[in-house]
Amino acid sequence: MSETLQKFLDRVAESAEQSALVKMTLSKPANRHDDLRNVYVKPVLIKEKRLFAFTYHYDRRDEVKNYAAAQMADILQEMLPARFQNAVLFTVNEDVTLLVSAKGKATLQTKKVQENREQNLDHDRQKTRLINPANPWWYQLGLTTREGKITADMQHKFKQIYKYAEIVESLVKPMKFGGTVHIADMGAGKGYLTFALHEVLTHRLHLDVDIKGVEIRPDLVLKINEIIKADGLKGLEFVESSIEAYHPEKLDVLIALHACNTATDDAIASGIKAGAELIVCAPCCHKQIRQEMERAGRFDAITRYGIFLERQAVMITDTIRALILEYFGYKTQVMEFIEMEHTPKNVLLVGRKTSKVPDKSCILQQINELKARYGIGRHYLEETLGMEFS
Ligand SMILES: C[S@@+](CC[C@H](N)C(=O)[O-])C[C@H]1O[C@@H](n2cnc3c(N)ncnc32)[C@H](O)[C@@H]1O
Repeated sequence: MSETLQKFLDRVAESAEQSALVKMTLSKPANRHDDLRNVYVKPVLIKEKRLFAFTYHYDRRDEVKNYAAAQMADILQEMLPARFQNAVLFTVNEDVTLLVSAKGKATLQTKKVQENREQNLDHDRQKTRLINPANPWWYQLGLTTREGKITADMQHKFKQIYKYAEIVESLVKPMKFGGTVHIADMGAGKGYLTFALHEVLTHRLHLDVDIKGVEIRPDLVLKINEIIKADGLKGLEFVESSIEAYHPEKLDVLIALHACNTATDDAIASGIKAGAELIVCAPCCHKQIRQEMERAGRFDAITRYGIFLERQAVMITDTIRALILEYFGYKTQVMEFIEMEHTPKNVLLVGRKTSKVPDKSCILQQINELKARYGIGRHYLEETLGMEFS
C-alpha cells in the first residue's frame, strides 16, 4: 500500500474515533464497466452503537452495509485504488481528498473548512427519502452544501424537485417496460429535474434507463455532462440540441418542464410522433395563443381585462394541448404540479397512451369551438403535427 493511501486511511480512522467523520465518498470508478458507481459513507447510530453506513450505488440498485470503525480500513483498502480513483473524507474541520491518477500515482489534498459542521447520526431519514440531498450531484448542481444540506436559497427549488420526483415515481411505477426505458427531458436547463428523474428511476424503481436531457445552451450541456462523468452516472446524458431538431428514434417517456412558449408544443409533438407511452409537461410562458386572441380582438366579458386575457390564453393553450393529446389516444390529466408559492407555472399536463380509440370527431369539434369563440386561427401544436383541424 502506498504511503499516501496509508495517510488517508489514518485520517479516516482518527476522525472515526474522534466522532469527527461527517461523511465520505468514493467515486470515479477505476473500470468504467464496473456497475458499482460510487459509495457514500456516513456515521449512524444503531441500537446505541456508532457504526458507519456504506451505501453502495450500483447502476440499478443501492445496497447499504453497516460496519464498525475498526472494519473500515480493510473495506477501504479493498476498494482504493482498485475500484475507485477518488475518495473524499469530510470531517468536522477539514476535507481530505485522495486522488489516484490513471498511472496509479496517489496524491492527498487537505482543506480546512470554515463553516460549523457536526456529525449527523440520524439513521432512518436517508433511507426513506425519495431524493437524497447527500448525493454529490446536488452539491455540484448548486443545491446543497458539500455536506448535503439544502442551502437556504434553494429550499423552494428543492421542494419543487421533491414534488416532481413524487409525481414521476407514481406515474412510472405502474408502467411495464421491456428493457431499457428511453426518456427525453426536453429543455432540461440546469438539470435539477433530470437528475431527480434519474435518481428516482434508477435508485427507487431500479430501472435500466437511457435519459437524454435536451438543452440548447452549450455551456449548460458541457457543465452537466462533466458532473455526470465525475459521478459515474450511467444512462444519463445531456445533448446540445433544440427541441425542434431533436427526433429520438425510441422514446418511452417524454418530459418537458417549463420549456418556453411553443417549445412545449415541439416537445409534445415529438413525444406523440415517437409514440411515447407517457408525456409529462409543465408549460411555461404562453405567447402564441394570446397573440392570436389579441389580433382577433374578439373579447368577451372575461378577456377584456388584461390579466384575465392572459390567464384565459393560458387555459385555452393548455386545453387545446390536452385535447390534441386525447385526439392521439392519450388519456390526459391536468394537475397541479406544486403550490403556487413555489412557482406560478404549476400546471402539469400528463398524457398516458391507451389502446382505447378516441372519439376524434367530438374532440375536433371541441377544439374548433374554442378556436372560433376566441378568433384563434391556429394552435402551434396542431401545425407542428401537420394537422389541419379546422
Ligand atoms: C425555464 S428552463 C426549465 C429547465 C428545467 N426543465 C426545469 O423545469 O427546471 C427552460 C430551458 O429550456 C431551454 N430551452 C428553451 N427553448 C428551447 C428549445 N427550443 N430547445 C432546447 N432547449 C430550449 C432553455 O435554454 C432553458 O434552459
